[in-house]
Amino acid sequence: MDFDLSQEQQEIHKLANEFADREIAPGARERDRAERFPWDVLKKMAPIGFLGGPIPEEYGGMGVDFISHAIITEAIGRADSSVRTTLSVQISLVEITILKFGTEEQKRTWLPRLCKGEVIGCFGLTEPAVGSDATRLQATAKRDGNDWILNGRKTWISNGSVAKLALVFANADPAKGHKGITAFLIDREKSPYRSQALHGKLGLRSSDSSELILDNVRVPDAMRLGPVGDGFKIAMAALDSGRYSVAAGAVGQAQAAIDASVAYATQRHAFGKPIAAHQLVQELIADMVVETEAARLLVYRAGHLKNKGVASTRETSIAKLYAGEIAQRACDNAIQIHGGYGFSDEFPVERLWRDARVNRLYEGTTQIQKLIIGRFATGIDAIG
Ligand code: CAA
Repeated sequence: MDFDLSQEQQEIHKLANEFADREIAPGARERDRAERFPWDVLKKMAPIGFLGGPIPEEYGGMGVDFISHAIITEAIGRADSSVRTTLSVQISLVEITILKFGTEEQKRTWLPRLCKGEVIGCFGLTEPAVGSDATRLQATAKRDGNDWILNGRKTWISNGSVAKLALVFANADPAKGHKGITAFLIDREKSPYRSQALHGKLGLRSSDSSELILDNVRVPDAMRLGPVGDGFKIAMAALDSGRYSVAAGAVGQAQAAIDASVAYATQRHAFGKPIAAHQLVQELIADMVVETEAARLLVYRAGHLKNKGVASTRETSIAKLYAGEIAQRACDNAIQIHGGYGFSDEFPVERLWRDARVNRLYEGTTQIQKLIIGRFATGIDAIG
């Protein structure tokens, strides 16, 4: 076992963190206030390769390993979780899924454009009446000659309004239950559908979350991703990759909470000394450090399995569950340390706290991760 980062991983760490500090963090508050999608940031990230980290170079990516992918994702999450969410969907739910399940033509057509940021992608699984119980999705796909006709509604779709390419799941044979679910790539220019941006979110205000409205959307069979009926497995495999990215981003949020707390606690005085010199404040910081480092190691362990190309569902769920929970605690501690100042957006910690909340909901709630981990531990399916 080797806990050291390789030379390449160290260089990526430096590059990603310097980029995040210079190009992402300074505008985070204003984007959040204005609910402005981070197009400007994405434009700067694309030439460095950060929109396609783990995608092989032959398809337009950087070809980095999964630990490096986590390092980049953590750095971006440390600066702005709205940007990180946009990126997680782009890379982990859309690009990696096309890489794994796409035909050679689908990979050559879409991956270079996604990696360059010419095309933003979204992942359409969740529906107004179907979230955790994803096997029961109601969107339908009916065969019509060489095409499919898709109908249904998707909701809470990150990047939904800005995406030119939607990876959407619909049931082609509802009588077969989840074995009818089929995955489709929808090229929005050729197969138009409507979207409606959602507003009033607690956090991630500069990321885009939308409804997708699919009314008789005609999709060529050439845009089907994987075999008919394999859509649910494709969705689950995509989430194994998406949850890894969420976990790495959550570690970044926790690290940002530590950085802000140390900066504040070492300069703010109370009772005649810096508040960092008070034991109860140090305890809050120590808890944050311990939990953040443990979460980072869990992420790297899942990444190590992904590098080996072996199953990592269990380890990814453990990392996602733990990192999501500790990020929330770290951000809460950070507000406690900042006192009243932590309650305003003069300091970044209130945004961190709001943004951290969704980690415990999206890409599988904390309870869904526990269900997956519990199944592995007991061999018993609690769903039935
Ligand atoms: N990889 C590949 N295949 C998998 C898999 C995985 N990780 N997990 C399950 N499968 C396969 C199973 O082998 C099974 O195959 P067979 O039908 O051949 O037997 C099939 O999928 C059904 O699996 P389960 O019996 O385990 O299904 P289940 O009904 O018990 O559900 C679940 C499992 C874990 C609860 C799953 O439904 C789940 O993860 N739900 C949460 C959904 C979710 O995370 N939604 C997030 C939406 S995306 C999002 O948030 C996007 C965004 O924009 C931010």
